[in-house]
Amino acid sequence: MVCLGNICRSPLAEGILKSKTDSQHIFVDSAGTAGYHIGNNPDQRSVAVAKKYGIDISGQRCRKFNYDDFAQFDIIYAMDLSNYYDILALTNDRSEIAKVKLLLEEVALPVREVPDPYYGGTDGFEQVFELINQACDAIAKRLNLP
Ligand code: 4NP
Repeated sequence: MVCLGNICRSPLAEGILKSKTDSQHIFVDSAGTAGYHIGNNPDQRSVAVAKKYGIDISGQRCRKFNYDDFAQFDIIYAMDLSNYYDILALTNDRSEIAKVKLLLEEVALPVREVPDPYYGGTDGFEQVFELINQACDAIAKRLNLP
């Protein structure tokens, strides 16, 4: 799960997908395309909205997306198109390109991107939670099939 800062959207996406999947079989992680907040915990507004829905993301630590992630992960979900193109710019071959998807491609919604809530209010974090939750429901349904 990748966004820009790895403190608002992708920590939520990591926590939400983890809450719906079996950690023995599915490894979920998150990262940011930018390195502004490396080592920091998620934004308090993300921590609060996750907590409201019973998910604890407070222990996560921000890291920057890096080239090794193409080898480590089968699917790389970008929150918005800017993150998507920043990740694609790091690819070296078709197999890496094929791993990169927009998270909201998983659901039929009128929006393609999870909006950046950083400069807005708490409403934005609710909206972001709802969008990510819908996508993670679809992913989990598929991954959890026997
Ligand atoms: P995120 O939100 O990409 O969802 O983690 C942001 C966090 C920090 C900044 C921008 C977006 N920033 O400019 O520091």
